[in-house]
Amino acid sequence: MRVSFQVNGAQESVDDVWEGESLLYMLRERMGLPGSKNACEQGECGSCTIYLDGIPACSCLVAAGQVHGRSVRTVEGLAQGDMLDPVQQAFVDAGAVQCGFCTPGLLVQTHDLIDRIPDPSDVEIREALSGNLCRCTGYEKILDAVYLAVERKDAIK
Ligand code: FES
Ligand code: FES
Repeated sequence: MRVSFQVNGAQESVDDVWEGESLLYMLRERMGLPGSKNACEQGECGSCTIYLDGIPACSCLVAAGQVHGRSVRTVEGLAQGDMLDPVQQAFVDAGAVQCGFCTPGLLVQTHDLIDRIPDPSDVEIREALSGNLCRCTGYEKILDAVYLAVERKDAIK
C-alpha cells in the first residue's frame, strides 16, 4: 500500500508498505529518519516517541498505514535547520546524553511537557517522563536538562 502523510512539515509518500509494518520501521528504514530509536519495539521504553497529530506516541506501536493523511513530527523535526531546539541544546549542555538511545524520546516528551505545562513541577516532570527509560544514567542529568529547557522555554517552537 502507499502511505501519504506529512512528516516534519513536508508531504511524503512511501510505497509498498506492508500491513504489519510499524511507523518506526518506515521512518528509520525507508525515509532516512533514524532519530527515533528502536530499543524494545513493545511500547515499553519510549525511545521511539514521535508526535502524531501533535500528541506524543510510541512509533513502534503505530502501524505505518495508520498515519495516512496525518501529521508526524520526529526528533529530527524539532531543530530549526542547523539550530538545535532549546530542549536538544539543554540536553547537550547538561550532559544528559550517554549512549543516546533514550534521548530522542526524552526530547520529544520534554518538548511536549513544556508546551503543555510551561512551568512544570518536579512531580509533573517525573510523571511526564515516566514512560521513557534510560539504561545509562541515574536520571539526575536528564532532570537537570529538563529544568534547563524550562528556563529557556521562550525559545521553544
Ligand atoms: S521502541 Fe517503542 S517503546 Fe521501546
Ligand atoms: S543515555 Fe543510554 S539509554 Fe539513556
